[in-house]
Amino acid sequence: MLLTLPDILNPDDLRKVYHALIQAPWTDGRESAGTQARAVKNNLQLPHDCKAAQTIRSLVLAGLDRSPRFFSAVLPRKVFTPRINRYAGDSNAYGNHIDNAVRVLPSGERVRTDVSCTVFLNDPADYDGGELVVSDTFGEHSVKLPAGHAVIYPGTSLHQVTPVTRGERLACFLWVQSLVRSDEQRRLLFDFDMNLLALRQRHGETPETTMLTGTYHNLLRQWADT
Ligand code: NI
Repeated sequence: MLLTLPDILNPDDLRKVYHALIQAPWTDGRESAGTQARAVKNNLQLPHDCKAAQTIRSLVLAGLDRSPRFFSAVLPRKVFTPRINRYAGDSNAYGNHIDNAVRVLPSGERVRTDVSCTVFLNDPADYDGGELVVSDTFGEHSVKLPAGHAVIYPGTSLHQVTPVTRGERLACFLWVQSLVRSDEQRRLLFDFDMNLLALRQRHGETPETTMLTGTYHNLLRQWADT
């Protein structure tokens, strides 16, 4: 499932992001790529331990934490340290690839990359190109969102960032291991949850919504891997 999540960062968060980026120590993005991805990856990123990266990722994680749609769609179990990247000048694209299935945190803990999430940090008017293109069984989807908006898509997808031919594209990127490994099952649970919410808003709590809420949780209990 490919889903956009508006306003993960508010204007105040974005001001803090730009302030943090004034002295950002950008490095070559290839340092963290796997062998196949390294051949097609050409962007800049921030080291995990720099001040700018720490500030931006805590704003992004707090923003995602405030989003009930993110929680319902992703059912997060573990998050891999968010990356901040920049596409501009000669480092302006990331060709087609599928991300590595497992990432290792500094603690040694492994994170399976079930869901990918990109949070756009600057406005589409600031740059040309730089579309995130995600391929799935329904074809190619091109995504370029306003600053502060996010997109999530399955970690299993072939994807790329097309060359930025003017300006710079700034984004924060992260992977999540979900309680539910299958994208198809996550989709069913998300639709179930969203429609239940709508039913409750329209009719208030009824014996049926109570029962369906139980059914949602019983399905999640069947499928969740904790
Ligand atoms: Ni990727």
